[in-house]
Amino acid sequence: MKERIVLAYSGGLDTSVAIGWIGKETGAEVIAVAVDVGQNGEDLEVIRKRALACGAIEAEVADARHEFANEYCLPALKANALYMDRYPLVSAISRPLIVKHLVAAARKHGASRVAHGCTGKGNDQVRFEVGTGALAPDLTSYAPVRDSGMTRDRAIAFAEKAGLPIDITKKNPFSIDQNVWGRAVETGFLEDIWNAPTENVYAYTQDPSIVRDPDEVVITFKSGIPIAIDGKPVTMLEAIQQMNQRAGAQGIGRIDMVEDRLVGIKSREVYEAPGALTLITAHQELENVCVERELARFKRQAEQRWGELVYDGLWFSPLKSALDTFMNEANELVSGEIRMTLHAGRAIVTGRRSETSLYDFDLATYDEGDTYDQSLAKGFVDIWGMPSRIAAARDLRVGKSMK
Ligand code: ARG
Repeated sequence: MKERIVLAYSGGLDTSVAIGWIGKETGAEVIAVAVDVGQNGEDLEVIRKRALACGAIEAEVADARHEFANEYCLPALKANALYMDRYPLVSAISRPLIVKHLVAAARKHGASRVAHGCTGKGNDQVRFEVGTGALAPDLTSYAPVRDSGMTRDRAIAFAEKAGLPIDITKKNPFSIDQNVWGRAVETGFLEDIWNAPTENVYAYTQDPSIVRDPDEVVITFKSGIPIAIDGKPVTMLEAIQQMNQRAGAQGIGRIDMVEDRLVGIKSREVYEAPGALTLITAHQELENVCVERELARFKRQAEQRWGELVYDGLWFSPLKSALDTFMNEANELVSGEIRMTLHAGRAIVTGRRSETSLYDFDLATYDEGDTYDQSLAKGFVDIWGMPSRIAAARDLRVGKSMK
């Protein structure tokens, strides 16, 4: 029996060529797997047929949009995950889901290897291969672009020679990865980090400088999960889709940054994630209302680690898994409503309402009749400041100058 290799298939030029390329290089049979994570591209059935036409012995497509929303975007939301405080991990959270489907296909078809079309310079090669190893230690990885010289030019020549049914003239100046959580754009003129992105870089967001009427939205959360928008129940997938539409129309969610890749390269990335960033903004504010101070402080540190682990390809890892348990517990009482105004590129919170709130009007008010005993604060401040006073006295004694 011939060896079998499962390929992560997008339907584009590179992975279409990879089907035949892998066959030629390894003598293996190729099984193509395409996963719908809400990228809103071509019809899955069209993609499946193309894989077969390009020489795959089997082709599978999976509509994983709800799975992606519920099991990948939602944990990211509960963790308010923003790598380097900005990037909502659009590509990073989709790779482990794709890996899961690749591994399942490998098992089903008796494959021994999993292949992907990544280069050797990015994070995605790491996420595919480390993820595969974590789910199936016996499977090995294969990367034709990185490991057997499948460059763009050679891919086009291969496609022409083999008469593959793909459009080789369609040349996109950018490398794009998109799904329902957002969109990542790199390469082309963006590689000069002084060049400003032009409007044609964006697809999920309108130009924020074009002024429209503000849009007011109320998002209801239950235990950290968005369950209704303007009072109408939504699934997680619908919540993201609706906020992509509404926040995107107001030009919210554009990010232009230089980021630290795991392989050590700094790279220029342009993202747009209108739904993700709006939901995270609302969720963070509801946490401010419902999460006790020490838990909130610790959670902010844990969130950063969560984001780094996921960015670095460790979705399926013991620490990430334990942190998810923490995030879920921390979100248990994060329930209520957040009102926001979406306008001119910004999502501004204007109101919060919650049955599980820790905000106590009677403690906070500066009006008459508050329940907070201010006389107790005098002793508290005195004792809180004691270490500083003792240190200051010592410094004076030994002649250490205070900067
Ligand atoms: N730099 C981002 C990440 O590592 C996005 C990479 C997406 N790939 C692309 N072809 N634009 O998560």
